Amino acid sequence: MSEMIRIAIQKSGRLSEDSLNLIRECGIQFNNGTGKLKSEAANFPAEFLSLRDDDIPGYVADGVADIGIVGENVLIETHQKVDLVHRLGFSKCRLSLAVPRGDDYRQLTDLHQKRIATSYPRILSNFLQEHKIEADIHEISGSVEIAPSIGLTDAICDIVSSGSTLMSNGLKEVEVIFRSEAVLIAHPNLSPARQQILDKLIFRIKSVQAAKN
Ligand code: PRP
Ligand code: MG
Ligand code: ZN
Repeated sequence: MSEMIRIAIQKSGRLSEDSLNLIRECGIQFNNGTGKLKSEAANFPAEFLSLRDDDIPGYVADGVADIGIVGENVLIETHQKVDLVHRLGFSKCRLSLAVPRGDDYRQLTDLHQKRIATSYPRILSNFLQEHKIEADIHEISGSVEIAPSIGLTDAICDIVSSGSTLMSNGLKEVEVIFRSEAVLIAHPNLSPARQQILDKLIFRIKSVQAAKN
């Protein structure tokens, strides 16, 4: 069997559609029928794994997948040893702090001694430390925006894209912690054969990006 590269992509979520579009635009055909989590490309030496986005950096670090498409936010939060090999420019979002719309928030120090819900405890605690704010971080893995309305926390720190989730949950964005986009990550020690396939893929991605500018 000839050499193949394993590519991890998000199963369903903000990155999925854009990731699949990019792969298609690179001229790579594969059939990911409903529920199929592993599929081989028809015309490129690659196999696709559909995974939870939060798990992708870990799989790439372990070498279970050779490369992956993931949000920079997830990459930084998981703190896995992988190489960021190319920025993809899509699925742009920001990681922000938000409070109930009616609060009269003025500055970051207003969050001192407050409770903050997030799925990004590492990034949030670094940010708070940097700004010398002491707060109580509640880690939850999803539906973070519900936390203030059920009395769990005073504020949240989560991904904002269109802002509609904040809006529908009576919250307002008060601080942007950092801006994120989709990135291509790779295992640090790819075999020369797989590195060659990755180089070919990056070449195609660059052509797709150049055609759009
Ligand atoms: C984020 C975040 C919000 C939503 C915000 O979820 O948790 O639910 O996107 O987007 P909006 O501003 O356009 O409403 P994400 O897609 O990262 O999913 P996940 O947390 O389940 O991985
Ligand atoms: Mg997810
Ligand atoms: Zn997630």
